[in-house]
Amino acid sequence: MEKKVAVLPGDGIGPEVTEAAVKVLEVIARRFSHTFHVEYGVIGGVAIDKHQNPLPDETVALCEASDAVLLGAVGGPKWDQNPSALRPEKGLLAIRKHFDLFANLRPVKAVPSLLHASPLKEEVAKDVDMMIVRELTGGLYFGEPSRRTADAAVDSLVYTREEIERIVVKAFEIARLRRGKVASVDKANVLETSKLWREVVEEKKKAYPDIEVEHMLVDSTAMKLITNPAAFDVVVTENMFGDILSDEASVITGSLGVLPSASIRSDGFGLYEPVHGSAPEIAGLGLANPAAAILSVAMMLKYSFNLDTEASAIEEAVNTVFEDGFFTADLVEPGKRVLSTKEWTDKVIDELDTQFVSN
Ligand code: NAD
Ligand code: IPM
Ligand code: MN
Repeated sequence: MEKKVAVLPGDGIGPEVTEAAVKVLEVIARRFSHTFHVEYGVIGGVAIDKHQNPLPDETVALCEASDAVLLGAVGGPKWDQNPSALRPEKGLLAIRKHFDLFANLRPVKAVPSLLHASPLKEEVAKDVDMMIVRELTGGLYFGEPSRRTADAAVDSLVYTREEIERIVVKAFEIARLRRGKVASVDKANVLETSKLWREVVEEKKKAYPDIEVEHMLVDSTAMKLITNPAAFDVVVTENMFGDILSDEASVITGSLGVLPSASIRSDGFGLYEPVHGSAPEIAGLGLANPAAAILSVAMMLKYSFNLDTEASAIEEAVNTVFEDGFFTADLVEPGKRVLSTKEWTDKVIDELDTQFVSN
């Protein structure tokens, strides 16, 4: 297979974790005889510094000419006081919107060898296996009006029926390939958008009689994610709720540093990125966990290129390295040696080589 992959490292730990992920992609290419043409572009703070634009036209053109995009992270204190249009985060929102990447898939699965780092009791966390399906191109992040004056500010939570329909259908389709359960999360006791959301879920579920659907309010969902996270299969929700709940869910399994995501539309094109941000306080120190970025490459192989065997090879290698007791600083047990980003990545690469020799 021959594919073009755009890589946008971004800010903070973005360059470190994408470098690790690209190395793993290169090993997959070599081992499975694929060709991935990797080209780099700028987004976020680095793009503001270079082009006074968090998403320059040439980056959009690069992504348009590619089959998939790998992104590190954007943002940092250097740009925090910038006006809204010149914030790194604006570049991320703009690329999601430009490519109509309405479905953000954030899998959260417990790995036995990481449970020591979970803030929850082992028996609560050990069977967690959920997929958060976050709507990504609507809601509060994009609704108009959005503006402020000195003493007032407004953001608008807007959803159309069509926007809700496509994400809900996506969630039902995903649930069919899993345990057949969907929790639709809203705030229908207060918000008009949530009432429409519920109506659409009720309508769409008629075509999926095999799927068990539950409506849940977002506040109690936040609570149940902690008390009984293993009860969730697919969680579908609007943009902002999904942002918050996915960070909450990420730590159940140990660290934000291991959670990948796929932002996709219907035709196979997708943007793959860790759920975590640019972690400016550890940038450049070799402390970043590259697992989320590496597992985002696995999601790219699976969702954009239909290379399931290659994707599983990466997931297996990552899990084996954890099982062998190798961790970066965010996951390490007291008294154990901390591996740097590069050392940990090399362990994954060694493991992929071992797999290949033994198969
Ligand atoms: P963050 O995710 O960057 O960091 C939260 C905490 O997790 C920090 O303690 C950090 O050190 C740790 N952490 C995150 N990723 C890690 C990794 N791979 N390995 C080890 N530790 C890791 O969130 P934040 O601190 O709220 O935000 C920092 C900046 O990142 C902000 O500018 C924010 O806007 C931006 N951000 C970007 C994205 C993105 O690009 N997708 C996502 C979230 C936040
Ligand atoms: C994420 C991030 C982004 C979001 C920010 C950086 C705009 O938190 O990808 O989860 O809120 O979507
Ligand atoms: Mn977030």
